[in-house]
Amino acid sequence: MTSTAPHDGRTFRIATIPGDGVGREVVDAGRAVLDEVARRSGFSLRWEELPWGSEYFGETGRMMPADGLEVLKGFDAIYFGAVGWPGVPDHVSLWGLRLAICQGFDQWANVRPVRFHPGVTSPLRKADSTELDWVVVRENSEGEYAGLGGRNLSAREGGEVAVQTSLFTEVGCERIIRFAFDLARSRDRKSLVSVTKSNAQQYGMVLWDEVFRRVAADYPDVETESVLVDAMAARFVLRPETLSVVVASNLNADILSDLGSALAGSLGLAASANLNPERRFPSMFEPVHGSAPDIAGQGIANPIGAVASGALMLDHLGEPEAAEMVRSAIDTVTASGTLTRDLGGTATTAEVTAALVAALDTASRRADREEIPATS
Ligand code: NAI
Ligand code: MG
Repeated sequence: MTSTAPHDGRTFRIATIPGDGVGREVVDAGRAVLDEVARRSGFSLRWEELPWGSEYFGETGRMMPADGLEVLKGFDAIYFGAVGWPGVPDHVSLWGLRLAICQGFDQWANVRPVRFHPGVTSPLRKADSTELDWVVVRENSEGEYAGLGGRNLSAREGGEVAVQTSLFTEVGCERIIRFAFDLARSRDRKSLVSVTKSNAQQYGMVLWDEVFRRVAADYPDVETESVLVDAMAARFVLRPETLSVVVASNLNADILSDLGSALAGSLGLAASANLNPERRFPSMFEPVHGSAPDIAGQGIANPIGAVASGALMLDHLGEPEAAEMVRSAIDTVTASGTLTRDLGGTATTAEVTAALVAALDTASRRADREEIPATS
């Protein structure tokens, strides 16, 4: 089955899982923007909303139905909000839904662009939206989130033990490293940095380093470097202009991508694509941030991370011009100063969403004008 074959009249079937907290607010915002760009671009998105998440857990004892993956299989893509809510342990909600989908659909490549936007103040003194832009490629199927281990000896009061094992396979390392090389090759700056902690983790991460060196031989046109994760954290802050594509294991890239989005101005900005590159299963698109219980329900969540994740979904569905229109609308809106509170503004989620829809109008009118040939 190819999960993204375009249908008659370019209709894409999208499953939405808004999930918990601000996930619901930003997914609604994303749908409004994506429907508008679809209308202007001549395709349509057929949404089906699935009410899975912590509330569903409260009612059924499960984060999604037992046949959840079967239900999702038939869709062209999945548009996800966030999961996690007080009352349900975080490991239960994460493993019961998001990780169950990522692993069940072998979405082994997690692409997380770090983009800087005009009009958004970064905590980096030298940040400039024209110079800084890099992509974190996260191994998304094994590593530290392989889910292997166990707990035992709880009868020894205060003496329980837990083992959490990281899993590194040569196949898993090679496919994500090749994916990152291909991405690096497609960019203006053809450079790839591999991030590990192989001085301390001498088995899995040394295997990763060896695979990186071996695969690098197939990409002589891409500049390469191997850096330890602690040094890379410092490099994100001190020399971000040297970064183009950064590839790292599941945990390390998870941490680095939150750092990247904070440097760009807010966790609310960052987009993410969980890809099954072979397209045997649907891929899933979601903002990097979580359910933000501290601001949920107030209508003030920043929708940009979810909207930009929608642009990544359009790229994946074969609609790159529409994706570009969405990205350009985001820059128009940030440059105009319509910003949510996390970016120092006062705009609500609804106001930013309306501004994004209006910016699509300007963008497409500008495109129309440019297409009209000069007659006089
Ligand atoms: P979080 O990302 O939800 O929030 C961290 C901080 O960023 C908070 O101060 C929040 O207000 C702010 N923030 C996040 N998104 C924002 C947005 N769109 N606009 C403005 N501000 C925003 O991370 P936290 O607090 O560690 O986790 C909350 C819950 O989310 C937990 O249950 C956690 O397990 C879950 N989570 C789920 C993820 C997912 O579904 N992919 C990813 C990360 C966390
Ligand atoms: Mg994270």
